Amino acid sequence: MTDDVLAEQVGYYRSRAEEYDATAYGDVDAARARIARLVATMAPRGRVLELACGTGLWTEALARDAKSVLAVDAAPETLAIARERVPSNVTFAVADIFGLAAEERFDVVFFSAWLSHVPDERFDEFWRLVGTWLADDGRVLFIDEHTDERPKEAYVSDGIVERRLTDGRTYRIVKHFIDPAALRERLRTLGWTCTITRDGDDWIAGTAIRATDS
Ligand SMILES: C[S@@+](CC[C@H](N)C(=O)[O-])C[C@H]1O[C@@H](n2cnc3c(N)ncnc32)[C@H](O)[C@@H]1O
Repeated sequence: MTDDVLAEQVGYYRSRAEEYDATAYGDVDAARARIARLVATMAPRGRVLELACGTGLWTEALARDAKSVLAVDAAPETLAIARERVPSNVTFAVADIFGLAAEERFDVVFFSAWLSHVPDERFDEFWRLVGTWLADDGRVLFIDEHTDERPKEAYVSDGIVERRLTDGRTYRIVKHFIDPAALRERLRTLGWTCTITRDGDDWIAGTAIRATDS
C-alpha cells in the first residue's frame, strides 16, 4: 500500500511542478525572503546534500554559503525549474531518496517539506540512510510544517491525504505534520539530538546531530 502511495506521491509532484511555486508559496518573492532568512540562521557550510529539492527555492539559498550542493529529487520536471535558478556550485540528481547511493559524506543534509512525506514505517530507515550520508560531525537541517496545519488537509486514511491539482486530478500522498516534542523523542531513540524551533504558525525548523555518549 505505502509503496503505491510513494509512487503516486512522485507522480503528483511531477504533475504539479509548473504550478508548485504558486500553490505552495503564493508570493514567491516573500517566500524567497523568508527562506533566505531561515537558511542564513541555519548557516549551512561546506558540502551540502539537499533531499527533495523540488523547484530549487531552498537550493538557491543554500548555495550562497555552501561550498557545494548536491540537490536530489525524484521529479525531473521540478529539477528542470530548479536548474534555472542556481549558481554553478550546485549539481542535480534525479533519484529516489530511498535508493540514493551517495559517493561522498556531507557536512550538511538538508530537507524542506520532505520529512512529513516519509511514511511512518519508513521513518527509521530514512534516518539510518541520512546517517550514512552525513560526515561524522555533520548536521541535519530541516524545515517542515507544524501539526497545527493538519486541518488544511483531506485525510483519506491514517497518514495519507488526497491532494488536487488545478486541473482537477487527485493524488494520494503521505503527510505527517510535525509535533516537535514527539519528533525530538523519536529521534532521541534513534541516536539523534534534535532541536526544533517554530517559524510563524506554519513552519518548524529543526537541527539534528548524532548524540554523543556522556
Ligand atoms: C513538498 S515538495 C518540497 C520541495 C522543496 N523542498 C520545497 O520545500 O519547496 C516534496 C518534494 O519531494 C519530492 N519527492 C517525493 N517523493 C520523493 C522520493 N521518493 N525521492 C525523491 N524525491 C521525492 C517531490 O518530487 C517534491 O519535489
